[in-house]
Amino acid sequence: MKRVEAIIRAEKIDDVKSALAQAGYVGMTTYEVRGRGRQKGYSRFYRGREFRYDLLPKLKIELVVDDKDIEGVIEIIERKAATGDVGDGKIFVFPIEEIIRIRTGERGQAAI
Ligand SMILES: Nc1ncnc2c1ncn2[C@@H]1O[C@H](COP(=O)(O)OP(=O)(O)OP(=O)(O)O)[C@@H](O)[C@H]1O
Ligand SMILES: [Mg+2]
Repeated sequence: MKRVEAIIRAEKIDDVKSALAQAGYVGMTTYEVRGRGRQKGYSRFYRGREFRYDLLPKLKIELVVDDKDIEGVIEIIERKAATGDVGDGKIFVFPIEEIIRIRTGERGQAAI
């Protein structure tokens, strides 16, 4: 099992969420986060002064999936979250040791 953590543009969440749900991935956790990538945010000039915005609001989605589903989930997120411009976000994948559904005590794959 793997945990997929995707940091995306907030306005892409509905598209990503509905495409994931359509493919059978319903359970997830989302967070409002602030971050920066390699452009270190952006800057704007206002009345001759430079204002830097280095931590930009983004949305983080976390979902745990079976190993066999990982490439499919990545493909959906990539396709639905992309605009082609800098700042489209990033996907991180982590191994998951165990899952327990509290209500039933089910573990592992059965608890996803
Ligand atoms: N190395 C990293 N570690 C942790 N979070 C990151 C990292 N790189 C990017 N992020 C997160 O992803 C968000 C979007 O990053 P972004 O898409 O700008 O990455 P990038 O590497 O600069 O790629 P691009 O050149 O396409 O903009 C950041 O605001 C930050 O929250
Ligand atoms: Mg960037």
